[in-house]
Amino acid sequence: MKALVLAGGRGTRLRPITHTSAKQLVPVANKPVLFYGLESIRAAGITEAGIVVSDPREMLHPDPRTGRAVTVMVNSQAEIRAAVGDGSAFGLTVTYIEQEAPLGLAHAVKIAEPFLGAEPFVMYLGDNLIKDGIRPFVEEFRAERPDAQILLAHVKTPWEFGVAELEGDRVVRLEEKPPRPKSDLALVGVYLFGPSVFEAVRAIRPSGRGELEITDAIQHLIGSGRAVRSHVISGWWKDTGKVEDLLEANRIVLADLATDVQGSIDSETTVENAVRIGAGAVIERSRLRGPLVIGPGARIAEAYVGPFTAIGDGVEISHAEIEHSIVLERSVIRDVPVRIESSLIGKDVVVIANDQRPRAHRLIVGDSSRVELA
Ligand code: DAU
Repeated sequence: MKALVLAGGRGTRLRPITHTSAKQLVPVANKPVLFYGLESIRAAGITEAGIVVSDPREMLHPDPRTGRAVTVMVNSQAEIRAAVGDGSAFGLTVTYIEQEAPLGLAHAVKIAEPFLGAEPFVMYLGDNLIKDGIRPFVEEFRAERPDAQILLAHVKTPWEFGVAELEGDRVVRLEEKPPRPKSDLALVGVYLFGPSVFEAVRAIRPSGRGELEITDAIQHLIGSGRAVRSHVISGWWKDTGKVEDLLEANRIVLADLATDVQGSIDSETTVENAVRIGAGAVIERSRLRGPLVIGPGARIAEAYVGPFTAIGDGVEISHAEIEHSIVLERSVIRDVPVRIESSLIGKDVVVIANDQRPRAHRLIVGDSSRVELA
């Protein structure tokens, strides 16, 4: 069996972080979301994976120093290739499959046919996180070999997902993001397919949003009398496409953290609960209240870092308080008088106090950013 991992697409709901980075590489507990998926694939006994990546594209982005708009090449494909490489770090052999534009999940399946051939495969959406992995679903599929097996989960906002209608445990209808969902059962971003899916992806037409939908392809399999099984999962699952979901994923993963201190913590710092401190990180005169993770080379001084916080590599936090947040590499948070919470802060961001007169907030903030001031 092979795996097809989808890591193309636009990531519009995580802007501005995804103006310059692939959404699948945004970290949860300091590890890219995509890596959790690759690890689950390997843990399910699969060693060959195709990763769908998109072409580089140009975007207008504000220069953090001058505030002027500059054109940047967003090359999430290069980023993903650099992060995953040949896959050997995950015990996988990885083949990259280039998609010229995000034309839909079923389009990705279509272009991957030469890689997948006639073998059954698991399709894994690179921004999905399934805490307990996928091994039991892969084993069930291997044993029963239906044409397709989908995973479902009860959700509060079914209109944001593909939605399944069941009769008993038989799937009768699937709809992509229906305005009036017939159930609260969302399609989880992990699908298992046999080779008959290629017929289905060739038969369907683009949806209203212009994409070839995998939901329509599975509906086509159902309509042609093929065996489509479903499995309602009870464990924790998240599509990390939105900030609040990413913060929740961070909270869930950190809840199981074990203490591992490689950096230095001075005697004036107090530490409660589990903390993971990377090599070369320096913590001075601070209060750490885990579970939390601080990346290699970070510097925390006279600060409070609270529960469910992931501080990236080389970040500086001094005279500031933060909790329930994710801070990406090399950012600086200094002399901030009010606690920062439930925040996602990108790479190389600077958040500092400024006592110039007249007193005012001075912001250089990228497109689609959000700033809430206390
Ligand atoms: O997360 C589960 C949901 O995923 C399902 O409930 C929906 O039925 C399914 O359509 C999908 O919906 P999303 O709107 O969340 O899909 P998104 O556009 O975010 O794409 C999912 C992943 O696939 C993401 O990592 C980007 C990648 N992708 C997406 C498209 C459209 C590609 O690699 N190529 C593409 O053409």
